[in-house]
Amino acid sequence: MSMKPEIAVFGCGGWGKNLVRSLRELGGLRAVVDPTEAGRARAATLAPDVPVHASGDAVWSDPAVRGVMIATPAETHYELAIQALAAGKDVFVEKPLTIDVGEARDLVTRASQMRRVLMVGHLLEYHPAILALRDLVTSGELGKIRYIISNRLNLGKIRTEENALWSFAPHDIAVILRLVGAMPVQVVATGGSYVSPNIADVTVTQLLFDNGVRSHIFVSWLHPFKEQKLVVVGSKKMASFDDVSKELVLYDQRVDWQEGQPVPVRGEGTPVPFAADEPLKAECRHFIECVQTGCTPRTDGMNGLRVLQILHAAQRSLATNGQPAQLDAAVFANGSPAAEPVIETTVRPANVAGIPSETVDSA
Ligand SMILES: NC(=O)c1ccc[n+]([C@@H]2O[C@H](COP(=O)([O-])OP(=O)(O)OC[C@H]3O[C@@H](n4cnc5c(N)ncnc54)[C@H](O)[C@@H]3O)[C@@H](O)[C@H]2O)c1
Repeated sequence: MSMKPEIAVFGCGGWGKNLVRSLRELGGLRAVVDPTEAGRARAATLAPDVPVHASGDAVWSDPAVRGVMIATPAETHYELAIQALAAGKDVFVEKPLTIDVGEARDLVTRASQMRRVLMVGHLLEYHPAILALRDLVTSGELGKIRYIISNRLNLGKIRTEENALWSFAPHDIAVILRLVGAMPVQVVATGGSYVSPNIADVTVTQLLFDNGVRSHIFVSWLHPFKEQKLVVVGSKKMASFDDVSKELVLYDQRVDWQEGQPVPVRGEGTPVPFAADEPLKAECRHFIECVQTGCTPRTDGMNGLRVLQILHAAQRSLATNGQPAQLDAAVFANGSPAAEPVIETTVRPANVAGIPSETVDSA
């Protein structure tokens, strides 16, 4: 696949600079847009050979820009994505897809009608260890999933515009949905605000699925050390992924019943190898691929919408100190997200990839 410079990045802040770097290394970066001098200076340092603009106008009118990657604050995602779609561009939006569920639904509908790619930045879904873990689940190696635990803790960047749940949990929720292959029916969340009033620094969110699987997601930016661990407990085996030590381990452990008593069967943990691919590079490469081929992204707009619905349910529960919030499990009616992701469906035929939707519609 040739990596033509055809992607513009909006927002060169704390995270956008990583997209700029990755896209440039992949040869796919055509422009950067940031309204602030600091953002533009950062972009000019990272990509001195690429035009940097203060507004999106030059990008919207440049037919060579086929896709945009939006790494701006969440409250700007919807408006920018709408503008990008209207200009005939394929769109990648950082998590969360939008703030409002209705806006996310609108983006999904518009992208589909315009036959544009809509991808959301659920980065962990491009992590080779998570892909290997998903293979352990789909191959049946772990047996039936019973429980998933995800801890994402650190003394990290403390945000004042969003809480730790919205900042960190989208990644964990996306992975859990992929592994379970269903939407939870109930969400319970509790948390505490210690730094800024009403901005939770620590939250524990429980997801309950109608097949009996439970999951808990513990996120905090007020923690003495960095811990990023995902543990999957199956009926046959268990697995853990430590994103700090970069280890995926399969445990041949379970509980058997012997003479009417539950007996733990302990076994060795075996390291599971996974590819060395950098998740962000893999994510950017996937977006370029989708732009060039018209394929539906692994983390498409529907994924973003589902995660957003769970975030809202968790926020409702958080606001009522853990009152359960119900969800509609039918959101997954169109298929299991645990299935091998994408590259099977397309948002448009390959021969019209990159042609603005107006042209496609009138063809
Ligand atoms: N995938 C991940 O792991 C990950 C990690 C951190 C942040 N994020 C997401 O990335 C996004 C940005 O977060 P951040 O931490 O980089 O924020 P930030 O505040 O550090 O940077 C945002 C940048 O966007 C620019 N900007 C604002 N409005 C703009 C517009 N209309 N057009 C172009 N640029 C504009 C700002 O000037 C700033 O430079 C958020 O959605 C956040 O949730 C994702």
